[in-house]
Amino acid sequence: MNGIDKLKNYPHKHLLGIEGLLPNSLNFLLDLSQKYVKFLEKNSKKLDYLKNKTCINLFFENSTRTRTSFELAGKKLGADMLNISVGTSSIKKGETLIDTAMTLNAMQPDLIVVRHNDAGAVKLLSEKVNCGVINAGDGPHEHPTQALLDALTILSRKKTIAGLKVAICGDIMHSRVARSNIHLLNTLGAEVRVIGPATLIPKEIDSLGVKVFYNMKDGLKDIDIIIMLRLQLERMSGSFVPSIREYFRFYGLDREKLNYAKPDALILHPGPMNRGVEIDTELADDLDRSAIFDQVRMGVAVRMACLKALVKK
Ligand code: CP
Repeated sequence: MNGIDKLKNYPHKHLLGIEGLLPNSLNFLLDLSQKYVKFLEKNSKKLDYLKNKTCINLFFENSTRTRTSFELAGKKLGADMLNISVGTSSIKKGETLIDTAMTLNAMQPDLIVVRHNDAGAVKLLSEKVNCGVINAGDGPHEHPTQALLDALTILSRKKTIAGLKVAICGDIMHSRVARSNIHLLNTLGAEVRVIGPATLIPKEIDSLGVKVFYNMKDGLKDIDIIIMLRLQLERMSGSFVPSIREYFRFYGLDREKLNYAKPDALILHPGPMNRGVEIDTELADDLDRSAIFDQVRMGVAVRMACLKALVKK
């Protein structure tokens, strides 16, 4: 990838969200990710594209998949990866987000990956630093690399996104994964539905170009891809579902509900999963129907592509 290709296809300093990205940019990142999938299948060695570059992982919220895969991705490309643990940083002494950003900026990193519990916090931080910033999830707003790895997983199994019918099911209200996926899938030509109880579907969701369903039977009809979402209890104030048992009965994906979709419908889940809440445990482990661990594998390749595209040579 030369500098001209990069500027033409991904003419952005940061990756703060999927909203507003053109098909060209999405396809550029997905094509590069596919190259890294192939590379990772064949090689255990490291590349040196990002040799002498320093990337910082700054996570204000817990993470297993995203933080680890950014670290692994950076190391595969030869970068020095630093992890800042918010629990042992000066944020605990009252340092603000902006002061933290300006402090890190003074150390001249080449890229910062940020997860924060507030929507918009990553954009605010990006305005205070000189290097590129990747949003690793900001509150209920966006999680762009998750949508990219979901798209890469779909491409690996279905070879296309255009024309597919995709259902995103569960807690749409509190889900940044839902928002980023809606933007990406619509931009690349899929038909997107959301399914869930009325209490967990925001009123304005149809302005994002999705069809809304309140029951799994109607919503899953003719569906190619089912993206199950966790109940984001940590973002809920008050009661959104009568009980977990009732939620699973009506909205938890099991064999019976899966039969409403196409016979070859593929199940995705961004993780972490709550088995027996939004998905039946045996179905989650059925590797013919569920691509949940493929998604994790694709995450490393997607994050390699994003780091490569954003770190300045
Ligand atoms: N899907 C996802 O963001 O998982 P983590 O919270 O473990 O990073």
